[in-house]
Amino acid sequence: MSKPILSVRNLHVKFTLRGRELHALRGIDLDVLDGESLAIVGESGSGKSVLNKNFIGLLDQNGFIPEGSIRYYGMGDKMRNYGTCAGEDENGPYVDLAAFRRKDEWLRIRGSEICMIPQDPMTSLNPLKTIGWQISEALRLHHGMTGRMAKEETLRILQDVRIDDPARRYKQYPHELSGGMRQRVVIAIAIACQPRILICDEPTTALDVTIQAQVLTLLRELKEKYHLTIIFITHDLGVVANIADRVAVMYAGDIVELGLVDEIFYEPKHPYTWALLSSLPQLGQRGEDLYAIRGTPPNLFKEVQGDAFAPRNPQALVIDKLEQPPYFEISPTHKARTWLLDPRAPKLEPPAVIAKLRELGGVRHGR
Ligand SMILES: Nc1ncnc2c1ncn2[C@@H]1O[C@H](COP(=O)(O)OP(=O)(O)OP(=O)(O)O)[C@@H](O)[C@H]1O
Ligand SMILES: [Mg+2]
Repeated sequence: MSKPILSVRNLHVKFTLRGRELHALRGIDLDVLDGESLAIVGESGSGKSVLNKNFIGLLDQNGFIPEGSIRYYGMGDKMRNYGTCAGEDENGPYVDLAAFRRKDEWLRIRGSEICMIPQDPMTSLNPLKTIGWQISEALRLHHGMTGRMAKEETLRILQDVRIDDPARRYKQYPHELSGGMRQRVVIAIAIACQPRILICDEPTTALDVTIQAQVLTLLRELKEKYHLTIIFITHDLGVVANIADRVAVMYAGDIVELGLVDEIFYEPKHPYTWALLSSLPQLGQRGEDLYAIRGTPPNLFKEVQGDAFAPRNPQALVIDKLEQPPYFEISPTHKARTWLLDPRAPKLEPPAVIAKLRELGGVRHGR
């Protein structure tokens, strides 16, 4: 297994809202491995975006980190100027992104080392500048490239993201392109920065299914070509199956299960993962409503007692309501936070419908 490029330990994030505090991340532990493709799944409000915004210093103004560390190992010598935020551990030299206090500390990280592709490409493209200008600008800012060199490199990157007729596209404006093409331009700008980590926050939800598949294929190609580490945030487990090496399942500001993609699809252990998988469209019966998880996530203005999913879990144990479960290790690559894995717990089988995933050969296509 490769080494972590990012190591998150006991990360808490809180937001201040009208004098009250919302506990959005409740002690996240996560290693992002160098060169992997990690999917982060979980329903709306589980903390996927908040977690990732910490990696690029874009937490909203009212958010803060009361506790925890985020060690980034990709900087090598470039971390000399980070003073007390820098250090060395068994994984090598690091900078602790959670310890940053000034805006300028992010300059050499955001965009250069870690890039994020937002959900809606239009929010990150400038409508008044040509595609070519915008990609060249990234090359200038991050690599000091100008003039002909920048133009040639831009044309090459346009080709890399499989935009046809790069010379013509170079001169076009965002509104002249389709949604899928714009998403490719956003990806091109990210690639121009040559980041180590690319965070894709629901990068395909605004696109139709065929274009979605093409963008995913492209991201897979670029990952190989540029040795990227990709963090993929998505609601869509079909996307996960097609792109991820590992999956982290988030619920109410915590990671409740983490494993290789096959472990999560075929050997899921947490009742919340069971519920998520049961709602996969592939498992729906013709003519029947899709499975939907009942109830709502906990109110994060209050401290959560026990297993956060217990109130929605019809089979919750007594202890689930009292005490937060620790992680139990299922394999060296698979862990879950559920009392069901305690040797004293009753043996509960996942819903029968999940076994169907195996029969279907998973939900992958074209991998
Ligand atoms: N600026 C903020 N102020 C207060 N609460 C916030 C703020 N930003 C996020 N939150 C809260 O933090 C929690 C996690 O939000 P987050 O945006 O990370 O969810 P998500 O998993 O990305 O959801 P989605 O799938 O809808 O994008 C939610 O309860 C959300 O309401
Ligand atoms: Mg989000």
